[in-house]
Amino acid sequence: MPVGTLVLEDVTKSFITPEKRTVTAVDKANLRIEQGQFVTLLGPSGCGKTTTLRMIAGFEFPTNGRILLDGRDIANMPPNKREMAMVFQSYALFPHLSVFDNIAYGLQLQNKSGAEIKRIVGEMTSLVNLGGLERRRPAELSGGQQQRVALARAIAIRPKVLLFDEPLSNLDAKLRVGLRTEIRRLQKKLGISSVYVTHDQSEAMSLSDLIVVMNAGKIEQIGKPHEIYLRPTNKFVADFIGRANFVAVNVLALHNTPKGERAEIELLGQRMLVPAQAGLQANRAATLVIRPESILISEQAADLPTPHFAAQVRTTTYYGVNVEYDLGTGNTELNVVDNDSSRILPEGSNVFWSFAADRAYVLNE
Ligand SMILES: Nc1ncnc2c1ncn2[C@@H]1O[C@H](COP(=O)(O)OP(=O)(O)O)[C@@H](O)[C@H]1O
Ligand SMILES: [Mg+2]
Repeated sequence: MPVGTLVLEDVTKSFITPEKRTVTAVDKANLRIEQGQFVTLLGPSGCGKTTTLRMIAGFEFPTNGRILLDGRDIANMPPNKREMAMVFQSYALFPHLSVFDNIAYGLQLQNKSGAEIKRIVGEMTSLVNLGGLERRRPAELSGGQQQRVALARAIAIRPKVLLFDEPLSNLDAKLRVGLRTEIRRLQKKLGISSVYVTHDQSEAMSLSDLIVVMNAGKIEQIGKPHEIYLRPTNKFVADFIGRANFVAVNVLALHNTPKGERAEIELLGQRMLVPAQAGLQANRAATLVIRPESILISEQAADLPTPHFAAQVRTTTYYGVNVEYDLGTGNTELNVVDNDSSRILPEGSNVFWSFAADRAYVLNE
């Protein structure tokens, strides 16, 4: 029997506000998390991430739908019976307890012996690099150290599922990257199924086996990081994950190729074959999505693969690691990120641009 398989079936949560309005915070969410998977709920503030997590934890109960842990419906089970642990943005440590006692807390509730507790706390403190700090209180630790105590406390009880609600949001940028690597390393080592809530797309990209993109209570897309990035299901997902250029195109025909569905599009008077979303129709308008870093530019057309297109540089912004350009081409504006920062194409210059078809995607909208 796999341990830590979590399934959400048509889970809905509606709240009645004090003004007697009904707010549907989560609308028919369907999701399957396999044992040991790291799944991130990603979306803008207010899209229903925390509410989803709180229902999984048992702090809220669904208005409709089922939540199954290893095949058992837990939708109405109290939180302490679910064998889950949660790490919060605010750390939520007991301020009057030492690091040792904070980590030991859940083990005491499990009626472990003193010797057993000592052994496990020792193991946890070394896992999260807190050795030597066992007697400190939370106020005597940095934010990053406090969050590592919270992490140790969560994994000490060997939960079936680990839940995280924006655990790194209160830390500064450098610590955030360090601790996120640590969270991923630990989670992989222990193999605990994890659900992680964030509004930070780079966090979601770097941590996840699977990303669940949410918007206004609804799941927009579930996929691996590269699928979400290269094959977004709609403009919202494309725009929320990284940056995207959207270009209106005409679909001339559809081709089922060995590499998948391709749309033959007309772009600025030229034809090309681009990977396409299912459900597109010929002779209809569609949207071509091209990431800024997928666009190649040159002053010489001969440097570029065909087809290529003429453009004029409207703005040039130098960042050191790269150079950004806004190009005017046809009646479209394109944002370009050029990793070659050894050359700077001046504003007003005439250039050509192109892109590898496999790096673009045609959307049905
Ligand atoms: N207890 C509540 N009562 C009324 N509305 C709520 C309550 N909790 C959350 N909401 C509303 O549900 C929506 C989703 O909230 P939340 O899950 O916290 O979003 P997120 O975590 O993605 O920022 C928001 O519109 C929020 O105002
Ligand atoms: Mg939230």
